[in-house]
This record gives sequence, structure tokens and C-alpha cells, in this order.
Amino acid sequence: MAERVEITDLIRSWRTDGTRSPVVVADVVGRLRESGQHRAARIVSRLPAHGGVLDDDATDALIVRVHCEIQRLSEELVQGRRVREALTPVIAGLAPTATGRVRVVDVGCGLGYLVRWLALHGRWGEAVELVGVDLDRSLVAEADRLARAENAGVRFVAGDAFVPGVAVADPARTVVVSSGLLHHLPVDRLPDFFAAQESLGVHAFAHWAPAPGALSVLGGWMFHRARMREPVSRHDGVLSVRRAGDRDPAVTVVVVGGLVVLAACDGAFSGFRSSVGRSGLVDHRADDVRAQLRGLVVVALLLVPAAVLALAGPGDATEAGRGMLTVYAPYGVPVLGALLVYGTLGWRTRFLAMAVILGPFTLLRPVVAVAGGLGGVLLADHVATRVAVALAVAAVLAVGPICDRLWYRPGPPAPTVQAGQA
Ligand SMILES: C[S@@+](CC[C@H](N)C(=O)[O-])C[C@H]1O[C@@H](n2cnc3c(N)ncnc32)[C@H](O)[C@@H]1O
Repeated sequence: MAERVEITDLIRSWRTDGTRSPVVVADVVGRLRESGQHRAARIVSRLPAHGGVLDDDATDALIVRVHCEIQRLSEELVQGRRVREALTPVIAGLAPTATGRVRVVDVGCGLGYLVRWLALHGRWGEAVELVGVDLDRSLVAEADRLARAENAGVRFVAGDAFVPGVAVADPARTVVVSSGLLHHLPVDRLPDFFAAQESLGVHAFAHWAPAPGALSVLGGWMFHRARMREPVSRHDGVLSVRRAGDRDPAVTVVVVGGLVVLAACDGAFSGFRSSVGRSGLVDHRADDVRAQLRGLVVVALLLVPAAVLALAGPGDATEAGRGMLTVYAPYGVPVLGALLVYGTLGWRTRFLAMAVILGPFTLLRPVVAVAGGLGGVLLADHVATRVAVALAVAAVLAVGPICDRLWYRPGPPAPTVQAGQA
């Protein structure tokens, strides 16, 4: 399946001479369907168009609205301050040997919020010249208008991140930055992007992008759903955070490994809960071990359909898994910790582990199982993956009842033994 793309990367097309090529709605919709982005395809099919070609003015206005929303997010996440903190020592290192101004170039600057903020609040004064570069000429024009309105000393130029030196005159005194750009560049071209800056010999480059990981994905989803108004902003914002995660194979390993460990432990303890308290014996260790193995085998078998569907599915299983793990990890980690305490420490701590964590958390378990499933369903893009998530949740919840039925069904009462009977 084709790699998923942001809508904003498809609805504009610039020729190298700065003129625009018409964007055919059917082409964009087809491309989005190819990568399974059906909701995005619907959003694009509703955009203003004439004769099947997107209306340039309406698209320009939409892009500016989307970028105003991105700017709002940057403001709320204090992006300007974070970049200022990181760059101040770098710039200070250049100042003593100064023969000219240091130039900070923001590639993929959008509306230029970062460089405008640095111009107004960077505290670097005249020693630093700020330049914003973006492929999108309508954003460059709007960034320039905003800078003039705010009297922020920033220059904006149209240019491609892959064309080195678009705003670099004195590489040794230039620092290149970007924010939210990397995930817009094709993965296989990222080395070219960094090589371009290296070959120019710029003093430093620093790129801010969403950190891959379950919390970023959930946080990104939450922020974009809660704070963005435009459907395009919501779609692209959520996808951009996910794509950042897609590029890190470690995320898949952590997600799959985490879910497997949690499912195995949950299965084993479901088996244990089925068995414990049945025989009345004081020493039931052998029964416990057997029951845990039974739970483990049952959960493994029950999870096979979900695993097959996820593996053979459309490729969004890692995202769904992240959604699940984001809910399960804060539940599973204290439970595993409490079990460790219960198995190793003194009786007072064991009592506390049971009373404070293991007991209440067992009560919460079905709710958490379903909540994790909802997390997975929300982050999945495809019905097949959502079905796999639902099957996985059902499998985990079915282990206890199945063990009860197979091995621990109450039998006929044991024959009564009279006192004094041999
Ligand atoms: C998510 S926006 C981030 C905008 C801005 N940096 C911010 O944080 O608000 C990504 C920007 O990268 C620009 N862009 C994408 N590919 C580019 C390229 N090859 N060269 C320059 N800019 C590019 C887009 O036009 C868009 O403005």
C-alpha cells in the first residue's frame, strides 16, 4: 500500500518557476484511496473546485487557515521559547569572532511563526538575521504580510528544502532550523536533506519534529481533535505525528513487545484467578502454576485470529497497538510492580500491594480492557484493524470464563466425612 500522505502536501502543486500546476481532484482522491485514507479522500472531494480542478484561491485561503491553527499549537506548546533556549548558546559561540551577522534560516517555515517570534522575543538583537523559507508561495506571501504588520525584522523567500543554499550566503555563520518539516519529506529523501546542509558546511542545524512514541501519538491526536477546527488540520496533524512514529522501528518493537508481555501476564493471572480458592487446600502452589500455564495457553490460542488479522491487515496495526498500550501500560505497570512486591517482600508490604493495587485493579480490569480497545479503534484507520482490536479485547476477557468452564466447574459436593470416621 502507498505511504500515507498529508492532504496539504497533495492539494497544491508548484512548478520550479513559481507558477502553479492545476490540481485535479480525482487524482488527489485516487492517491488518498490508494493509501487507504478514505476520510481524507472525502475531505478533498468536498473542497471548492471548478471542472474537477481545485480552486486555487479557496485552497490558498484554506492553507492559511490550517497554518494559523498550526501556529496556535506552536504558541501553546511554547515552540519559540524552546528554540530560543536551544539556539542561544549556539549563537553565542559564533558572536565573539563576528565579522558579520549570524543568520538563522527556518526551512519549511509555513507562516513563519518561529522566526517572527524570535524576531520579537529572541533577545539576539541586530547580531542575528532571521530568514524563513517555504515551498509554498502563498504561505511565504502571508508570512511576509504578518511580519510587516508586526514590524518583525524577518525576510521570507520561496524555496525547496532540497535545494541547498536557498537562503545561505555565509555557511560558517548560518544556523538552519526547521519545525514540523521532517515528516513532510519523503523518508528515502531525508538523507539528501541532511547531506545538503552538511555539504554547505553550515555552522549548525537543528530540526524539531514530533518524537515517535505512543504518548506523542495519543497527545497529538488529543490536541488536534480538541484544538483544531479545520478537518484538514485535524487529519494532517494526527497523521504527521503518526508518521513520525512510523519511521522508528523501535516503536513497533516496543508496542508489539509491550502488548505481548501484558497479554501473557494477564492470561496467566486470569488462569490463576480461575483456580485459586477452589480446593480449600493451604498449600496450592502446584495448582497455581498449572492454572497459570492453562491461562497462558488459552490466551495465546484466543489471540491467534486477532494476530493474523493484524499481521495480514492494511498496515496500521502498530498505530492501533499504540492506542491500546497507552491505556494498558499505566494499568499494567503498577499491577506488575505490585505482583513483584507480593512475590518478594515482607507480609506488611504484601498486604498493602493486595489491598491498594491488586484488589482494586482487578475490579477495574474489564473497564480498562475495553478502554484500551477504544484507544486502538480510535487510532486504527481500517475496519480490519478495528476488528482485530475488538477480537483481541474479547480474547483477553474470555480467558477467565473459559478456564472456569474447562477446568474449574463446580462438581458434585465431596462426600461428607463424619468426625471420628477412619
Ligand atoms: C507542518 S508545516 C510546519 C510549518 C512551520 N514550520 C510551523 O511549525 O508552523 C510544514 C511546512 O513545510 C513546508 N514544506 C514541505 N515540503 C517542503 C520542502 N520540500 N521545502 C520547503 N518547505 C516545505 C510546507 O509548505 C509547510 O509550510
